Amino acid sequence: MINKYFAKITGTGRYLPDKILNNFDLEKMVDTTDEWIRTRTGMFERHIATKDQAASDLAYEAAVPAIEAAGLKAKDLDMIIVASISNDHMFPSTGCILQKKLGAKNIPAFDLSAGCTGWIYATNVAKQYIETGAAQNILVVGVEVLSKITNWKDRNTCVLFGDGAGATVISRSEPKDISRFIDSEIAADGYHSELLVQPAGGSRMPASKETVQKNLHTIYMEGNKIFKLAVKSMYAVCDTVLKRNNMDVQTIDWLITHQANMRIIEALGSKLKIDESKVIVNIEKYANTSAATIPIALDEAIRSGKIRRGEIVLTASFGAGLTSGSLLFRV
Ligand code: ACO
Repeated sequence: MINKYFAKITGTGRYLPDKILNNFDLEKMVDTTDEWIRTRTGMFERHIATKDQAASDLAYEAAVPAIEAAGLKAKDLDMIIVASISNDHMFPSTGCILQKKLGAKNIPAFDLSAGCTGWIYATNVAKQYIETGAAQNILVVGVEVLSKITNWKDRNTCVLFGDGAGATVISRSEPKDISRFIDSEIAADGYHSELLVQPAGGSRMPASKETVQKNLHTIYMEGNKIFKLAVKSMYAVCDTVLKRNNMDVQTIDWLITHQANMRIIEALGSKLKIDESKVIVNIEKYANTSAATIPIALDEAIRSGKIRRGEIVLTASFGAGLTSGSLLFRV
C-alpha cells in the first residue's frame, strides 16, 4: 500500500506513582534476596500505585504532558487508544474513562490488549489511521497497575512488576519533515497463550469465592518458557523491519526493548549485534511495567536529551498472548 501521509511521534509523557518498593522491602515480604533479583532480572526498584489509583489515573498524568509536548489541547485529539492488561474495569474501557478525564469530546476511545506489546500494537494502529489520512492526532497510552493483579505471596512473579504509564501523541508528519515512522511489524502466537494469564475474572472463570481464595485473579506466568520465546520473537520482528527497509543495526541510533529482564535485553542485543551503548535500559528503577515500559523509556530519553531529533529508534517487545512487535522511527 502506498501511504497517503506519514506519521510521527510529536509528544511524550510519563507518570510513575510516588511510592517505591525496593528489593530489600521485598526480602521482608517473600523468600527472596536483593542479590537474586538483581542478578536474575537487573531490577532494584519499582513504583507502586496507591489504593485509590487505577489505570486511568496514571494514564491521565502521563497524557497531559504528552499532549502539551505535542503543542495540542485535548480537543485536538481524533482518537484515544489505551494499551493495558490492568484496566480500571473489564468494561467500560479505560480509553473512555481517560477521554472524560481529559475533556476530549466526540472521538473514538478504546482499549487494546496485547500484554507488554500493547503500546507497540496500539501505536501501529494509530500509525495506520494517520497514514491513510483518517486521523491527524492520536493519543496512545501504555499503562499498568500490575500491583493490583499481583500475587504478593508468589516470589516467582511479585518481584518482577511495577506500576506506571507512558503516553505518546502520534500525528501527521509533513512531507518535508524527517521525523516519521519508517516501518512496523506486529505478530502473535496464540499457541502459547497459557504461559502468561490472569486465569479468573473473565467469562472462562468468573469470580467466585474459590477463585479469590486460590489467587486466580493474579498473574500466572511460566517465566522460564517465556524467556526463550521472548528473545526469539523480538529478534524476528526486528530483523523483519530492518531487512524490509534495507537497514542494518549499524544505522540504528537507539534500541528500546521491553524491560522484562536484563538478561533478555542483553541476549537480544547480542543476537542483533548492536553496540551496548545504544541500548536504553531503565529496568533497575521501574521493573516490568508491561505496556508502559517502552513509552516511559522513550519519554525519559527524549526529555533528558539522550534521544535527539533526527535519530533513528528501533523498539521491540513481547508479552501475553504471546504477542511481539517492533517499531522503527526517526524522532
Ligand atoms: N527469589 C529467589 N528465588 C527465586 C525467585 C525469587 N524471587 N523466583 C524464583 N526463584 C527460584 C525458583 O524457585 C527456582 O528455584 P529451584 O531451582 O530451587 O526450583 C530458581 O529460582 C530458578 O527459577 P527459574 O524460574 O528457572 O529462574 P529464571 O532464571 O528463569 O528467572 C524469571 C525467572 C526472572 C521469571 C525469568 O524466567 C524471566 O524473566 N522470564 C521472562 C518473564 C517475562 O518476560 N514475561 C513476559 C512479560 S510480562 C507481561 O506480559 C505482563
